[in-house]
Amino acid sequence: MHNGKVVDDRKVIVITGTNSNLGLNIAYRFIDTSDKETRLTFVVTSRTLPRVKEAINLIKAYTHKSKRTGIVDYDYFLVDFTNMVSVLNAYYELTKTYDAIHYFFVNAAQGVYDGIDWVGAMKEVIANPLEAVTNPTYKMQKVGVKSKDNMGLVFQANVFGPYYLLHKLLPLLSAGNGTIIWISSIMSGPKYLSLQDIELLRTDSSYEGSKRLVDLLHLATYKELKSMGIHQYIVQPGIFTSHSFFKYLNVFTFYGMLLLFYIARIFLGSKWHNISGYKAANAPIYVALEMDKSNYEGEELKYGSATTRSGKEYIKAQEIIPIGSSDVYDYIKLKEKEWDEKLKGQITNTRIPM
Ligand SMILES: NC(=O)c1ccc[n+]([C@@H]2O[C@H](COP(=O)([O-])OP(=O)(O)OC[C@H]3O[C@@H](n4cnc5c(N)ncnc54)[C@H](OP(=O)(O)O)[C@@H]3O)[C@@H](O)[C@H]2O)c1
Repeated sequence: MHNGKVVDDRKVIVITGTNSNLGLNIAYRFIDTSDKETRLTFVVTSRTLPRVKEAINLIKAYTHKSKRTGIVDYDYFLVDFTNMVSVLNAYYELTKTYDAIHYFFVNAAQGVYDGIDWVGAMKEVIANPLEAVTNPTYKMQKVGVKSKDNMGLVFQANVFGPYYLLHKLLPLLSAGNGTIIWISSIMSGPKYLSLQDIELLRTDSSYEGSKRLVDLLHLATYKELKSMGIHQYIVQPGIFTSHSFFKYLNVFTFYGMLLLFYIARIFLGSKWHNISGYKAANAPIYVALEMDKSNYEGEELKYGSATTRSGKEYIKAQEIIPIGSSDVYDYIKLKEKEWDEKLKGQITNTRIPM
């Protein structure tokens, strides 16, 4: 420790929304794939303390069973990306504790779901089962939901909040020669975003629109970051079981969905139905740890976690249609300035000893 900060050769890994299926599996795969002797510090995040504790206990138990010889430490911060004061506090807590961040997984995300259109779902499944479980349109989303900060809620949660935090953390990421990994989706095509509605307030596909924004923001920023010694990648985890959607399913619909996922993979040949969170975490860990970054020029691609019919995992890269990336970046930079002004002198301490 130096001035109360961590300065040894450990790797500091931040995973936002750690207690999600993908978040936990990113941690598990990191433990399995990284050098066994390197000391790791997992920085876990959630909006609530119980979920932070749960995530830390699960990662601890996994580490215990692994063949890792290096020390693994755990830390946390509470952050709600729909609250800019909370985002600023997260920045403050990280800079107080660390001189460098080596890996930052932008995994937390939310939608504003309003249930499932079951009749629409049945029709979609009958008409085109593969399409129905790959690009579903029957998950109903509310339109026009704003955060308390008066921004589009999904825009702030999935795009602007994490962007703002990362940009405040650039000195730490630069010091760690860090890698930023944004989690996108296969459902992030250009049709989900109108440049007249960047805060996603007039669309019933705000979740998908937020993933399109993340793709475009990545394209607009990765070169600038590279000049600061920071690698940034965009990945998509395919389709896997998500805790956040369980609340809309009962035991029959859950297993029905799972059955359709397996049918899509085994009989219809879908490469994106990873189903398991561990397989979904393949691409995030590939870009973080396995890709040769010394002279590699592939940041403009989106790396996807894919699976063969028999469940063998592989990486599949896709191109991103870049139209609108500079407009999106201009909009975000203006917002950043606006919030820099608004947040002057707004820091409180949210961490209590565990
Ligand atoms: N499931 C899929 O098939 C699929 C497909 C494509 C992409 N993805 C992407 O993969 C990632 C993980 O998905 P998942 O299904 O495993 O996650 P999930 O179950 O939906 O959980 C989302 C996580 O994000 C955190 N979170 C939500 N809103 C937040 C906010 N306002 N501020 C801070 N944290 C917030 C939650 O943390 P707390 O509740 O603990 O605060 C939770 O741990 C997401 O980016 C998702 O978009 C998933």
